[in-house]
Amino acid sequence: ATKARTAYVCSECGADYSKWQGQCGECGAWNTLSEFVLEPAAKAGAGGVAASRRSSWAGRADAPAVTALKDVSHSEESRVSTGIGEFDRVLGGGLVHGAVVLVGGDPGIGKSTLLLQAITRMAQTLPGLYVTGEESLSQVAGRASRLGLPLDGVHALAETGVERILEHASKMKPALIVADSVQTLWTEQLAAAPGSVSQVRESAARLVRYAKETGTAVFLVGHVTKEGGIAGPRVLEHMVDAVLYFEGESGSRFRVLRAFKNRFGAVNELGVFAMSDKGLREVPNPSAIFLSGSHSPQPGSCVMVTREGTRPLLVEVQALVDASPLSNPRRVAVGMEQNRLAMLLAVLHRHGGIVVGDQDVFVNVVGGIRVQETAVDLPLLLAVLSSLRDQPLAEQTVAFGEVGLSGEIRPVPNGEDRLKEAATHGFKRAIVPKGNAPRGGRIGEMEVIAVERLSEALDAA
Ligand code: TYD
Ligand code: MG
Repeated sequence: ATKARTAYVCSECGADYSKWQGQCGECGAWNTLSEFVLEPAAKAGAGGVAASRRSSWAGRADAPAVTALKDVSHSEESRVSTGIGEFDRVLGGGLVHGAVVLVGGDPGIGKSTLLLQAITRMAQTLPGLYVTGEESLSQVAGRASRLGLPLDGVHALAETGVERILEHASKMKPALIVADSVQTLWTEQLAAAPGSVSQVRESAARLVRYAKETGTAVFLVGHVTKEGGIAGPRVLEHMVDAVLYFEGESGSRFRVLRAFKNRFGAVNELGVFAMSDKGLREVPNPSAIFLSGSHSPQPGSCVMVTREGTRPLLVEVQALVDASPLSNPRRVAVGMEQNRLAMLLAVLHRHGGIVVGDQDVFVNVVGGIRVQETAVDLPLLLAVLSSLRDQPLAEQTVAFGEVGLSGEIRPVPNGEDRLKEAATHGFKRAIVPKGNAPRGGRIGEMEVIAVERLSEALDAA
């Protein structure tokens, strides 16, 4: 194969084809295939997109032998602390040597700041190279000095061409590379414009290959699109070892780092930070920071105990239910899944006898937190009911629990943990699934009301 060839790559999922087609066979999206030219594999060295994926061992003398898995020697991945406890937590206990980690988030959320803080703290153990394609070196240095970060051992490079970045890296041999951001990278191998899906994808692939060949750890910074995915092909998520999202509300100073995928640790682990003029500060004990802080209970609000990752977190779910001027009333969910809201409102109607068909329903999880677990169901419906009736829930009440389609309240994992956390923060009543309730009906000072059906829960509230 010495002839240049053309590939057609789907901008949604990154699948590639040798012929153009209207619909991507992998993800089903329409009109997402775009053409780009691959250089001959031999000249390109590491090979093109398809070559690297479809390389075959067949017929090779050095083809790997089949081995009994128990005879394979292995070692625990060696990890290095990032110097930031909350960051280590989300990574699964520190950064693994040679790991490639994608850090995604909206522009301005604090990704560059977080990674600059991490790379300077790790400089003693992992000499780092900070590659910036978005800012000048003097801007980076200026920010570092404003944040009071020690700069010994950190090198920086303002460059977007992957070939030159890797050239510098092979000379300097950093143990850690931060590429900020992946959307600015481009490779000479492709004719496509920088920033295009194929460029982002192939540039990231080159860095991943370099990381795996040399054992260098790499952080790729990626901006997130309005739809919530990392701009560029979703295949980036498959190429890397871990995908972390950095989230938060623009008005709030709290930021949450969440593991969305992690080959070396648990997903849904949360790291919590507070922004300050000295950079990001850790919030090692975040359990109550996301409560709205209003002292008297308000209609349309319910506190829940979520447990994403390894620690419980108290968050406030708010709902606003209001007569709709539209024939097709709005259902808007911020911080939780929209479809789930629609489904839960149907359950509320069918099994709770509460009609919201002519009402707009808005729900929000306070503090920019995103709750993905089903334990949000019950508190959400209680907040909706409270807003509809314009009556606050009883003071110091928490709730959690999954609501099933037939109106049953299902238990959620780690119920006892959640209840203890709520009791520690002085809550007096908890409305929880029967399967999660302790025998005596109390935890410390807190009364625990066990419910099996949605109608019981609504009565209890
Ligand atoms: P930045 O790290 O540049 O965001 P991103 O790389 O995700 O686009 O941060 C945006 C701005 O916020 C920047 O001007 C620095 C400022 N900032 C602080 O002042 N303190 C902080 O703790 C953080 C995280 C950011
Ligand atoms: Mg940035």
